[in-house]
Amino acid sequence: MNQSVDTFPITEVRDQFPALKRTYNGKVVTYFDGPGGTQVVKSSIDSITSYMMNGGANLHGAFPTSRETEDIIGEAKRAVADFLGVKENEVAFGANMTSLALSIARALGKNWGSGDEIVVTEIDHRANVDPWITMAEDRGIVVKWIPVNTKTLTLNLSNLNEIINENTRLVAVGLASNAVGTINDIQQISKRAKEVGALIAVDAVHATPHLTIDRDALDIDILLCSAYKFFGPHVGIAAIKEKLFESIEPFKLKPAPTYIPDKLETGTQNHEGIAGIKPAIEFIASLGVGTSRSDQLRSGMARIEEYETFLVMKLREGLSLHEKVTLYQASALVPKTPTVAFTVKGYTPLEVCQILSDNYGIFVADGHFYATTLAEKLGIIECGSWVRAGIAPYNTEEEVEGLIKAIQTL
Ligand SMILES: Cc1ncc(COP(=O)(O)O)c(C=O)c1O
Repeated sequence: MNQSVDTFPITEVRDQFPALKRTYNGKVVTYFDGPGGTQVVKSSIDSITSYMMNGGANLHGAFPTSRETEDIIGEAKRAVADFLGVKENEVAFGANMTSLALSIARALGKNWGSGDEIVVTEIDHRANVDPWITMAEDRGIVVKWIPVNTKTLTLNLSNLNEIINENTRLVAVGLASNAVGTINDIQQISKRAKEVGALIAVDAVHATPHLTIDRDALDIDILLCSAYKFFGPHVGIAAIKEKLFESIEPFKLKPAPTYIPDKLETGTQNHEGIAGIKPAIEFIASLGVGTSRSDQLRSGMARIEEYETFLVMKLREGLSLHEKVTLYQASALVPKTPTVAFTVKGYTPLEVCQILSDNYGIFVADGHFYATTLAEKLGIIECGSWVRAGIAPYNTEEEVEGLIKAIQTL
């Protein structure tokens, strides 16, 4: 174990996640289902409770609870701005990433029609595919796909210049695959999109708990994520570049605000959920050093990455020694999140997860995880697709060893 992994404050981290105390069938639960949603940090839970205990309110009132609600939302947006490297007024909240993507796609589509093209990918979660292609169907827009190479589990970018061309209006791509963990080469895709004047919409839902995200360094126009994947509550987040945001007209009620970012936030927001966002981001910052929250976030995330990489290497290695296990992962040269998709010969993914849960208290998920194009191309969708184990900063080396041992008994 290297020194920084050795000094990772795992006991202090674990103490901050009440759900880790849960038992099931007499065993303390091990959570490897982070890619489906991490456990929630106590400070976030406390903030949600406190909002509801102290008196919530709707916005724009002349009384304290209303003003406090506005402050909480403002603070949450400032925290997200630091987290994603964006401006506070570019951040909008919504029910989840999917709803925000559907709304943004509809708004953008108003300006596009026949002769225009959009580009989606075969590796993505369908939440960054279907909002765009349903809009394209309605508007008579051509849809092009960046193919996935089923051998390397990476996007095949060899024809990028043909796929993204002068007719392309938007490219939708995930920062990392929520199924197999591959981190996509956003820089290359975004460079090509910019060459032809196309927008780029990046789904960072899976990446946010694992990677530092700098929206401007990647030249992303629309960035989407969800707080329940990074230790917070179920709230969707969209960050849209200011000028673009000003120019779009989301579907909204007539009296609702016309200014950014509120114009994307239909109806009354999930105030208590939003109250839980800043503490979740500050949990990551608390692991880092620096004078500003942005610096703390960067170094905190680097520390998480190092720790998770240590654990996931152990997991990948342990599983690869089992003859019945097939791992679905890109080569060691390809950067990946600590997300491991696999199958076990003789068992459906559902059976594996049931055994792990019932006999060992190990919670892992099975299925296609909405990465259905990839699962279909791999020909595994009818057999239940994958078992997916994801590492979070509250997981331990012992838990990884426990998972490997449990799989060895199959
Ligand atoms: C990569 C990815 N994109 C999008 C989504 C959908 O996010 P939401 O549940 O916030 O709509 C998920 C959810 O699992 C995901 O993993």
